[in-house]
Amino acid sequence: MRGVFISLEGAEGCGKSTQSDLLASYLRGKGLEVVTTREPGGTPTGEMIRDILQHHASGEDIAPGAEVLLFAASRAQHVANVIRPALERGAWVVCDRFVDSSLAYQGGARGLGIDTVLAANEIALAGVWPEVTFWLDLPLEAALARVVARGAHPDRFESEETAFHQRVHDAYADLAARFPERIVRLDARKSPDGVFADLLEALEPCCEPGLEEGL
Ligand SMILES: Nc1ncnc2c1ncn2[C@@H]1O[C@H](COP(=O)(O)OP(=O)(O)OP(=O)(O)O)[C@@H](O)[C@H]1O
Ligand SMILES: [Mg+2]
Repeated sequence: MRGVFISLEGAEGCGKSTQSDLLASYLRGKGLEVVTTREPGGTPTGEMIRDILQHHASGEDIAPGAEVLLFAASRAQHVANVIRPALERGAWVVCDRFVDSSLAYQGGARGLGIDTVLAANEIALAGVWPEVTFWLDLPLEAALARVVARGAHPDRFESEETAFHQRVHDAYADLAARFPERIVRLDARKSPDGVFADLLEALEPCCEPGLEEGL
């Protein structure tokens, strides 16, 4: 595939959407085609699944295995209908959360195991992995303060107890150690521009040919 696939990961409020916007503008400024997308969601079917997962309309507890498979189902649709076609036509894909969110939240924080969740995602990924994943590492208190400061309603995940968020953080750290060639940790306590400067510095060596093409 000719395109470049980048994912952004980290806790709620760590700056994924902010960095996604900055990166997309930067790449578009170089004349590159950029597809920005997000998980869970990214397709009409995926948005319906996102609704089930986040708003919990049935009132029924979602079993951990069902949660993993719903995320994976949404991802399968997203990869097949959006990400793979974009990469095949040479676009850059900037995705706000991808498989590492499942690995960190369900595999690590909910305790299902990273290998189990990875296995459940194999059909969904069909071999499509990001070239680079940026983990925006923000200490827990700072992350929650940002979410509250922007006046968002806490959803199911945001109202989980602090220990859960700490486990998510620890799981991302484990993933960064496990996939050092793919996952780049960024210090998300910096200003948006400071984080973005670090992101670009890390991006250029791994994606130089694609970036030069757009010059
Ligand atoms: N580097 C930063 N320093 C300070 N504030 C920031 C920074 N980056 C983003 N913010 C602010 O923090 C809030 C959360 O940022 P953003 O929406 O980008 O995070 P997110 O990771 O996409 O969150 P979510 O997981 O809830 O979608 C926003 O109000 C944003 O303006
Ligand atoms: Mg966001």
